[in-house]
Amino acid sequence: RSESPSTPPESQVTDRFAYAFDIDGVLIRGGKPIPEAIEAMKLLNGQNQYGVKVPYIFVTNGGGKTEQERCRQLSDQLEIEVSPGQFICGHTPMREMAQKYSTVLVVGGEGEKCRHVAEGYGFKDVVTPGDIIKDNTDTTPFRKLTDEEWENSRARNFNKVEIEAIFVFADSRDWAGDQQIILDLLMSKKGRLGTRSETFDEGPPVFFSHNDVIWSTSHELSRIGMGALRASLEAMFKAVTGKELKTTAFGKPQIGTFQFATRLLQQWRKDTHGIDQPPDTVYFVGDTPESDIRGTNEFNSHAENTWFSILVRTGVYKEGTKPKFTPKATVNNVLEAVQYGLVREQ
Ligand code: G3P
Ligand code: MG
Repeated sequence: RSESPSTPPESQVTDRFAYAFDIDGVLIRGGKPIPEAIEAMKLLNGQNQYGVKVPYIFVTNGGGKTEQERCRQLSDQLEIEVSPGQFICGHTPMREMAQKYSTVLVVGGEGEKCRHVAEGYGFKDVVTPGDIIKDNTDTTPFRKLTDEEWENSRARNFNKVEIEAIFVFADSRDWAGDQQIILDLLMSKKGRLGTRSETFDEGPPVFFSHNDVIWSTSHELSRIGMGALRASLEAMFKAVTGKELKTTAFGKPQIGTFQFATRLLQQWRKDTHGIDQPPDTVYFVGDTPESDIRGTNEFNSHAENTWFSILVRTGVYKEGTKPKFTPKATVNNVLEAVQYGLVREQ
């Protein structure tokens, strides 16, 4: 086809391919958009030489606020409309656990935000570390609640409460205090604070919303993340009890997250574009080989070669090293990742 860039053809939505994006280190770093991200979104929305619009979703391991709130923020940052119908964060699939567990400890994030997320998912009785500290301020010798935390926390007699599961929804703001409380529960008789199990194997299960040991934010070097807390907790449990602790992580690279993303994309393409068949290719753009590339490649072997991994150099992965998991393509940034797919599809 010959088209002049000055008179782009009217955009048509493609049913052949789609994009899925990681967020931190690909589109955003430290709360600010990566410069090429805004242009990349314009390209997907039809401002490209082929006049094609490409459906896309976002799959981040991050979290700590409701999907609605995060989508509003992402819309401002990327200058596009982002809907919860095209968005999954680390804790989104945890909503399915609300059927199974009623009284749960939710850890991480700012203020009361994660409590609200969990309640929105349908968890009936959500406890935070602040609630436990308010009930017994000796719980964490070096952590005192701020006035606001004291005000918001819901104290009650936790010796009588059975905490059935522990969910780490977002990065802990106080590793020492949060780990002390998690450890107390893991060593308790069936999740009752103030008790000690003789065997240390009857505490509640622990679920992390992802397992990223490092992630990309405003510092030029990667920062430790939730996977580091997980490693720390498991090592600490071993050091204190002599026993192994097995915890579970959601998020990328888990196959379940990619299955969830596939269903979301299918629904999104159907609802917004009337497309009722699976795409031939989903380009996944990520910056973390261990989560994004590993997950995409492993899922690809289950998904009839539909998912195609693209690694960018704007986040965790840095040029000059060999990524632990090999992407199908490596490009400088997200704009190049979108151009790559557009060209490949012609
Ligand atoms: O805490 C979030 C971080 O570990 C990764 O987020 O968007 O790169 O999956 P993302
Ligand atoms: Mg990332």
